[in-house]
Amino acid sequence: MEKRTHFLFLVLLLLLTAIIFTAVLAKKGRNGHHHHHHHHPGSVKLFVFGDSYADTGNWGKSAASWNEPYGLTYPGKPAGRFSDGRVLTDFLASHLGMKSPIPFEMRKSENGSNLQHGMNFAYGGTGVFNTMANEPNMTVQINNFQQQLEENVFTKHDLNSSIALLSLAGNDYLTYIMKNDINNVQGLQDLTKNIIQQLLINMKRLQAVGIKKIAVTTVEPMGCLPNAAVVSSYQNCSEIFNAAAKYHNEALVNEVQKLNNENKDSVIFLLDLYAAFMSTLTKNGKLSGNSEMKTLLQPCCVGLEQKYFCGSIDDSGAKKYSVCKHPELSFFWDNIHPSENGWKAIYYALRSTLDEKIR
Ligand SMILES: *[C@@H]1O[C@H](CO)[C@@H](O)[C@H](O)[C@H]1NC(C)=O
Ligand SMILES: *[C@@H]1O[C@H](CO)[C@@H](O)[C@H](O)[C@H]1NC(C)=O
Ligand SMILES: *[C@@H]1O[C@H](CO)[C@@H](O)[C@H](O)[C@H]1NC(C)=O
Ligand SMILES: *[C@@H]1O[C@H](CO)[C@@H](O)[C@H](O)[C@H]1NC(C)=O
Repeated sequence: MEKRTHFLFLVLLLLLTAIIFTAVLAKKGRNGHHHHHHHHPGSVKLFVFGDSYADTGNWGKSAASWNEPYGLTYPGKPAGRFSDGRVLTDFLASHLGMKSPIPFEMRKSENGSNLQHGMNFAYGGTGVFNTMANEPNMTVQINNFQQQLEENVFTKHDLNSSIALLSLAGNDYLTYIMKNDINNVQGLQDLTKNIIQQLLINMKRLQAVGIKKIAVTTVEPMGCLPNAAVVSSYQNCSEIFNAAAKYHNEALVNEVQKLNNENKDSVIFLLDLYAAFMSTLTKNGKLSGNSEMKTLLQPCCVGLEQKYFCGSIDDSGAKKYSVCKHPELSFFWDNIHPSENGWKAIYYALRSTLDEKIR
């Protein structure tokens, strides 16, 4: 028991430092140019809410996502994604036959006229509640969306054929676990109840303004994230974190079903990240690997020492991380985020759901 507690403490410490690392410095000021936009009535738009699995550039320029080696594969330089390339939002947009919607924070940039695909309100590190990342939670993200509606950037008519993507990968859990004992099962289950309740409130708000289709993610197997698996040298997923994810997902499935029964006018469907991660990471129940990765739990980009992360530089500006030779063979890019290759595999696993629910 002693040993186990010590082990968990180490895991938590790693998770904590990862979140803090992404929560660096303040945002640069953003100037407000005026912009022109065109409405394309009837065309599908994508509105995105949530965390780093969906964020395509809302963080300030000092975040890891805006610094090397992020963006290495796509677009070839750092561009605000927490990966070497495309993330969930990009693959969903591409499935819908459109470009990725513009990040909310870039709506006033030179490309802010690019509103015909919708808007991305997601910020890495966030949850339905406030987290260690000092960025807008999902409630505030939806407030930002409503503000865009009030300003007539988007109309009710736009929403009729639009889709909302909600990504909730578990930052609420990480934040809780830092301050509480993960072995307190009751505490964790109460948290799940609160998270799901808040998520339902958020989805009802989106339905109330006229969104007809909502895709919401299940929580991925948190224990398989490299941050948690590093203690077994990437040989095993941490069962206690996976159990928390499963408990969350079961509750989510039940509540979504109830809401769908109550509201026939609008449909919510699950993007099962848990199943998609698992089917990609394992073969015949065993963790798979390849010529570069012992197991797919091994991330491509890592800090050279425990105190460093993917993207760390020291005071002299020297790189304190390494990047694998073949990011296209990795599943994970860094300690918490899939690589573009990983997201592509996840997208393939989700494709039949998308075909069924969207087109
Ligand atoms: C604006 O769009 C152009 C063309 O798509 C692109 O080359 C440029 O990098 C974009 N600028 C910003 C600030 O995103
Ligand atoms: C979201 O963030 C705002 C601003 O920090 C806070 O007032 C609000 O209580 C948060 N919402 C939830 C559901 O935690
Ligand atoms: C929204 O779509 C439904 C059919 O899906 C249609 O009956 C309704 O008129 C549309 N409303 C608007 C405002 O476009
Ligand atoms: C991984 O899990 C297996 C099966 O539970 C166990 O036998 C093995 O010792 C674990 N490996 C490590 C490095 O923890």
